[in-house]
Amino acid sequence: MPIQKICCIGAGYVGGPTCSVIALKCPDIKVTVVDKSQERIDQWNSEKLPIYEPGLYDVVKQRRGENLFFSTDIDNAIKEADLIFISVNTPTKTFGNGKGRAADLKYVESAARMIAEVANSSKIVVEKSTVPVRAAESISNILTANTFNKPNVKFQILSNPEFLAEGTAINDLLYADRVLIGGEDSAEGHAAIEELCKVYERWLPRKNILTTNTWSSELSKLAANAFLAQRISSINSLSAVCETTGADVSEVARAVGWDSRIGPKFLQASIGFGGSCFKKDILNLVYICEGLNLPEVAAYWQQVIDMNDYQKSRFSAKVIESLFNTVTDKRITLLGFAFKKDTGDTRESPAIDVAKTLLDEGAKLHVYDPKVEHSQILEDLTHPQVTEEPEHVRKSLTIHSDPYEATAGTHAIVLCTEWDEFVSLDYQRIYEGMMKPAYVFDGRKILDHQKLQSIGFIVQTIGKRLSRNSPNRVWGSKAQI
Ligand code: NAI
Repeated sequence: MPIQKICCIGAGYVGGPTCSVIALKCPDIKVTVVDKSQERIDQWNSEKLPIYEPGLYDVVKQRRGENLFFSTDIDNAIKEADLIFISVNTPTKTFGNGKGRAADLKYVESAARMIAEVANSSKIVVEKSTVPVRAAESISNILTANTFNKPNVKFQILSNPEFLAEGTAINDLLYADRVLIGGEDSAEGHAAIEELCKVYERWLPRKNILTTNTWSSELSKLAANAFLAQRISSINSLSAVCETTGADVSEVARAVGWDSRIGPKFLQASIGFGGSCFKKDILNLVYICEGLNLPEVAAYWQQVIDMNDYQKSRFSAKVIESLFNTVTDKRITLLGFAFKKDTGDTRESPAIDVAKTLLDEGAKLHVYDPKVEHSQILEDLTHPQVTEEPEHVRKSLTIHSDPYEATAGTHAIVLCTEWDEFVSLDYQRIYEGMMKPAYVFDGRKILDHQKLQSIGFIVQTIGKRLSRNSPNRVWGSKAQI
């Protein structure tokens, strides 16, 4: 029988948007998204959703109360569902074996245990969370071991990792390049894969739906994130070479990416990648490789993370060095705090690292971000992993709701997130209100540097040496060595 009811455990950045789009495209399927957090569910049922994602509210508004429901009644949603997505968080372990690297599967495990306890009919259980290879086996073991007294209840476990990117989630879901579904190589496994294919086929061409065995699907998600992050670290590594030679990383990226075998995407140099997934998933891959006694493979992927850390600290060091090697008591403004534009998510945001360094050096930090909640910025910067002196941070930090207010009287602007609105700010007005010399550090390479220089700013960016007087001067100097 075709899928009629879907339950999704975990109403986060993945579960919420994914199931909203499924509800939009499958009006005859009842989709219930459940979460243990009452606060999150209340937000999903309100006008202000818990996450900012372009286009999401419109989709939710259309289907909520029709065939899309947000609830904390997890048991009931599991009981009535034919298919259950597990979309809970899989953070890096913070203690015990594999601390700091392995994925913590406690939420996945607890979701599996809830399903085993409550289910009284057969289900297709789909891991949507990003998990280590062979996690489906653990889920399957938990489900079968805990339902031995329910002989009529059978489970098929599928792997269906999510490839959406925050900031473009709705578009990514509506026009997905590919959907990946892995399952058991058996008649029952193939039948379950087919049921899930039919859901996606409502709006995606069949050729975009790839089916594999379970383990390939699980590994492909980790591999995809590792490849994407590797491109960023590769171009960032070259940005350091550009800054000392006079090459321009944007020109290098264009020249390299023009090769159709390489392609232009994900070749934008910056202060480094952030977000909840890249670092966590690569660490997980590294941990798996070490467990498989493949230390060379582990070291290879670890370097992608090391290069990202290097890039963040290189950028912070450049800010301090330019400001005459001291930022103590200087007012510095961070424009942008989210890990990228069009999201309010700050998990692993490079802005946190930059802010931490500047605060440690005694700066008076002013922060403006169009979408990140003020409370989130304060929480991130007073987190025990960031500071041992939360009181000092509170005293040195001011969070603003207006970019002009945030930049008034400041010595330097440090642009950390590529929000579109930062491009069109009135920099003449900002310059007039700033201390002189007025500095701009463009960590995202989005501003018009020549224009800023003509206003009077001293501008620094990534992967390019900007000469204040003559753009050609570097060619005749020691840059040619
Ligand atoms: P999230 O932290 O935003 O959401 C997870 C939700 O699961 C939370 O609201 C939490 O309360 C809930 N939860 C945890 N255990 C639960 C339980 N036992 N019962 C009910 N609810 C429970 O996480 P996010 O970002 O949505 O990520 C989920 C998974 O998707 C992760 O494995 C992540 O790696 C993966 N992923 C994330 C992407 C992203 O851009 N954020 C993209 C692709 C995959």
